[in-house]
Amino acid sequence: MTVPIISLERVSRVYDMGRVAVPALDDVSLGVQPGEFVAIVGPSGSGKSTMMNILGCLDRPTQGAYRLAGAAVAKLDDDGLARLRSRSIGFVFQSYNLLPRTTALENVAAPLLYQGVGRAERVRRARAALERLGLGDRVDHEPTELSGGQQQRVAVARALVTDPALILADEPTGNLDSHAGAEVISLLRELHGAGRTIVLITHDPDVASSADRQVHLLDGRIAA
Ligand SMILES: Nc1ncnc2c1ncn2[C@@H]1O[C@H](COP(=O)(O)OP(=O)(O)OP(=O)(O)O)[C@@H](O)[C@H]1O
Ligand SMILES: [Mg+2]
Repeated sequence: MTVPIISLERVSRVYDMGRVAVPALDDVSLGVQPGEFVAIVGPSGSGKSTMMNILGCLDRPTQGAYRLAGAAVAKLDDDGLARLRSRSIGFVFQSYNLLPRTTALENVAAPLLYQGVGRAERVRRARAALERLGLGDRVDHEPTELSGGQQQRVAVARALVTDPALILADEPTGNLDSHAGAEVISLLRELHGAGRTIVLITHDPDVASSADRQVHLLDGRIAA
């Protein structure tokens, strides 16, 4: 039996707003096996970002258990969580989240710095990741000197450079035109083909249909 890479067991996340409590995730259970390509899809306010934050160890459940690659996230302190996150997950965001005034190469190399990889090896691996994404001739460009699609490819290179088991992508095509969006999706499919686990979060049913499995969220619960 394989250990699921993601296991949510009866997870709830309630935002405490003082007089009211907002149940953004309500008793959600979900297992994702290594190598799966899953889309989490649902309308605005359904709890997608809340789930992404929990899956990405950026937030913790108020109830229930989350295990990432077998590790019980609740048992880790903030340092342990940060280590697990940097070792296991590559993030891709809607707004790219690249460091401004910083070259593509330095952006992609940054996660390796946090892992204590030496300078020469960082540069070598960052360059290889950018070349793999067809950006070998853009390594010295800063974000403002790149198109949106190119910036998102830099972000995908950054997500990949640590060789994480899991890629978490939150609306990765949200700011892109249909052509650049399709390119990012085909990149995710390619990474999936190479054995990586992909969790793609989107409100767009078309984008979701590129995954092998869809999980529908509605009002913080998993629908059929
Ligand atoms: N920090 C917060 N404090 C209080 N309530 C919140 C907070 N973040 C989200 N919520 C509420 O939780 C619910 C789920 O929000 P969430 O951001 O997860 O939705 P979403 O599916 O990502 O929506 P969108 O597609 O618009 O990004 C919403 O009702 C929202 O108002
Ligand atoms: Mg959201």
